[in-house]
Amino acid sequence: MTIKPWREIAVPHQDVLKDTFQESEFAADISQVHQGKATPEYQDASQFFARTYITEGMALLLDSVVKCLSGHGGDPVIQLQTAFGGGKTHTMLAVYHLAKGERPVSELSGVSVIRLYVKYSG
Ligand SMILES: Nc1ncnc2c1ncn2[C@@H]1O[C@H](COP(=O)(O)OP(=O)(O)O)[C@@H](O)[C@H]1O
Ligand SMILES: [Mg+2]
Repeated sequence: MTIKPWREIAVPHQDVLKDTFQESEFAADISQVHQGKATPEYQDASQFFARTYITEGMALLLDSVVKCLSGHGGDPVIQLQTAFGGGKTHTMLAVYHLAKGERPVSELSGVSVIRLYVKYSG
C-alpha cells in the first residue's frame, strides 16, 4: 500500500504553496489586531475564522466565554496552557472577534455549529 503524501491530504494554504508565507506573521499578535494594523487573515473576523480550526477545547472555551459574558455561568478565568506556537494567542483572538461582534456569527465559519449556551445575536 502506498501512503499518500500529507500535502494531498491536508493541502497547505496558498501563501505556503507560493512561498510568500511571512514567518513574522506566524505568531498571532492581538495588539496589532486591536490597533487595526494586522494582516487581513487576523484582522477580519470572517477571514480569521475561515482559517481557524475549531478544536474541541476551543469550542468549549468559546461556549464558556459566551456564558460568562451573558451572565449564565461560565469560567471568569481560563488558563491557556500550550507551548510556544500552540495557539494561545489565536484562541484569544477567536474570543476577541466573537465578543466584538463586528460580523454576524453566520459569517464566522465554524462558529454557528458550536452549540453556544445562549443565542449570540452579535
Ligand atoms: N486553531 C487554530 N486554527 C488555525 N491556526 C491556528 C490555530 N491555533 C493556532 N494557529 C496558528 O498557529 C500559529 C501559532 O499560534 P499562536 O496563537 O501564535 O501560538 P501561541 O500564542 O500559543 O505561541 C499562528 O499562526 C496561529 O494563527
Ligand atoms: Mg502568543
